[in-house]
Amino acid sequence: MTASPRLERIVEITASELNERLGEALALYVTAMNYPPATVEQRAPMWLAHMMREEWRCVIALGEHDELVGVGYGYRGAAGQWWHEQVRRGLMQVSPPAVVDSWLTDYFELTELHVLPRAQGRGLGEELLRRLLEGVRSSCVLLSTPEGPSKAWKLYRRVGFEDVLRHYQFTGDPRPFAVLGRKLPV
Ligand SMILES: CC(C)(COP(=O)(O)OP(=O)(O)OC[C@H]1O[C@@H](n2cnc3c(N)ncnc32)[C@H](O)[C@@H]1OP(=O)(O)O)[C@@H](O)C(=O)NCCC(=O)NCCS
Repeated sequence: MTASPRLERIVEITASELNERLGEALALYVTAMNYPPATVEQRAPMWLAHMMREEWRCVIALGEHDELVGVGYGYRGAAGQWWHEQVRRGLMQVSPPAVVDSWLTDYFELTELHVLPRAQGRGLGEELLRRLLEGVRSSCVLLSTPEGPSKAWKLYRRVGFEDVLRHYQFTGDPRPFAVLGRKLPV
């Protein structure tokens, strides 16, 4: 017996298209991350601000009825951004300046990648990730993810992400994080 074909389709969308579906996308995000629903209010202004950043790109997965089942976005990282400065601070503590620069000079920050639980485990996350990175012009991609076994870890390892920083604590979040990266193109 062969596996049934996946019904979801993946499309790249513009910032204004994501803006129109922001409520739906943030609901997907809190469901996938298992965060309290109130997180939506905190995240909405952040997602809107990210849309204005250089080389912002977004891909979504749509189900049979055009409902959102997956979302991924990122942008070109730059000095002065909160995440950039946090990662620089961590990297400087463990790596020589040449290594810090090799990661932080020309990178795409993979900011969000989420698939609804009911659609997980069928390759959709990987396809979203690959499609998002296909159009990226930076020489590498960086992301942060909580330490510990997760579907996200398996996916990033499978796609060739290596350790950049491990067990790192971002300001204001008690959880240890890994910063992972890989050279582009994938
Ligand atoms: C991380 C996340 C986006 C991954 O999405 P996903 O669709 O579950 O992940 P994948 O694309 O890796 O699914 C692949 C799994 O399906 C299997 N699979 C089945 N059919 C497949 C196919 N045709 N192609 C590829 N993989 C397939 C793979 O073997 C793999 O199994 P494994 O995880 O046991 O190795 C998703 O799990 C998620 O939203 N998690 C919660 C939010 C989160 O943690 N986001 C990341 C924050 S850093």
